[in-house]
Amino acid sequence: MRIDILSATPELLESPFSDSILKRAIDKKIVQIHFHNLRNYSSDKHQKIDDYQFGGGSGMVLMIEPIDNCIRELKKYNNYDEIILMTPDAILLNQKISNRLSTLKNIIIICGHYKGVDQRVRDNLITMELSIGNYVLSGGELPAVVLCDSIIRLIPGVLNNETSALTDSFQDNLLAPPVYTRPSNYNNIRVPDLLLSGDKTKIEDWREKKSIEKTNKLRPEMLDE
Ligand code: ADE
Repeated sequence: MRIDILSATPELLESPFSDSILKRAIDKKIVQIHFHNLRNYSSDKHQKIDDYQFGGGSGMVLMIEPIDNCIRELKKYNNYDEIILMTPDAILLNQKISNRLSTLKNIIIICGHYKGVDQRVRDNLITMELSIGNYVLSGGELPAVVLCDSIIRLIPGVLNNETSALTDSFQDNLLAPPVYTRPSNYNNIRVPDLLLSGDKTKIEDWREKKSIEKTNKLRPEMLDE
């Protein structure tokens, strides 16, 4: 999979891809990540990429021209399955969407910034918009990283058996059950006996029961889905 990320501040994107699972996926050539600084696609002599909004109002709006130029350039060399804008005023990312995106070949992610993005980008240049939650961040860079992480860990070969994504929360519409590790007794706070019993069937049943209890308590709406 190839992911191209368009941003006004690509430095913000670098560190999450330089460590751990995301780095390993890149090193194994399972995924290629390319950052593009939108300023390099501005025809303005000061490399301006944002301006005041028509009709008045506070905050700067990301212009269409650098985004259009960058997408046009990328499309010369690749076909894209999705062009995604990260913005808080969009549908919410969920596991089902990440599962689908993880099967695609090439995607572009545009990090929104400042007050927003010229609506003509949203109407004409992209194929979908995603929010990572009902709160506003300063820009779309962190959301883009969140989206990439949720997608990349699902691509076969990225995780090993021990870290398999199949047992993640949300994969079966349930929150993950509690997990414990050594020591089994810490200052008299004990791991449930059943987990130490070695009885695989009972342990599976216990985990399922705990998942359902936890989901019912914390996220009951998931059980209706
Ligand atoms: N940009 C700012 N806040 C965001 C959010 N919650 N989701 C996606 N992009 C954003």
